Amino acid sequence: MKKGIFITMEGPDGSGKSTQIELLKAYLEEKGYDVLITREPGGTRISEAIRAVILNREYSEMSPVTEMLLYASARAQLISEVVGPALESGKAVISDRFVDSSLVYQGMARGLGVENVYEVNLRAIGEYMPDVTFLLDLPAEVGIARKKDQKELDRMELESLEFHKAVAEGYRSLHTRFPERIEKIDATLPIEEICGIIKGRVETILSK
Ligand code: TYD
Repeated sequence: MKKGIFITMEGPDGSGKSTQIELLKAYLEEKGYDVLITREPGGTRISEAIRAVILNREYSEMSPVTEMLLYASARAQLISEVVGPALESGKAVISDRFVDSSLVYQGMARGLGVENVYEVNLRAIGEYMPDVTFLLDLPAEVGIARKKDQKELDRMELESLEFHKAVAEGYRSLHTRFPERIEKIDATLPIEEICGIIKGRVETILSK
């Protein structure tokens, strides 16, 4: 049985997840939590090695199924080595992306089907579904423009604008499918306002 709190941050590339994660971490620490931040794909030695394969710009021939399985493999290792033990010991875990990224990017934008991708991922995550997921909602064009200003684009970011539009749209439809768990927030709002919404929801969960 898990004792900690598991929070995930989702959204299209460039939606400002990292900033909000840092602010949420500070808030949870004030509340006395030992906070662990992790990112997907990655967060363990093996998962980071898988990440390097997935995001390598040279591997343009990668099939959607290979891509889905690699993300799920990186996730399985992260859960068994890091997230599971941290939650068991009562920590707060904040993950930059988690299973919803696969449901949207591979299940919807790549067209593999949400149910198929979910089924494969259940093998990777077992009982560890997030307590709450914050979805930073942003038009695809804005996200990609922000990323281009920051760094060289990786294999996923190099995808067409159509693909990124499908991602943004996919996230919105996933929110209507899991309304209890996923909280959708307009990512164009000021940083402090987004942070206030996130803290409010976490506060409610902690007081239960
Ligand atoms: P990353 O540099 O971590 O992107 P970001 O800063 O936007 O979070 O790269 C992760 C990329 O992998 C991103 O384009 C989303 C994609 N992705 C999937 O397609 N499926 C997944 O299951 C995960 C976790 C990420």
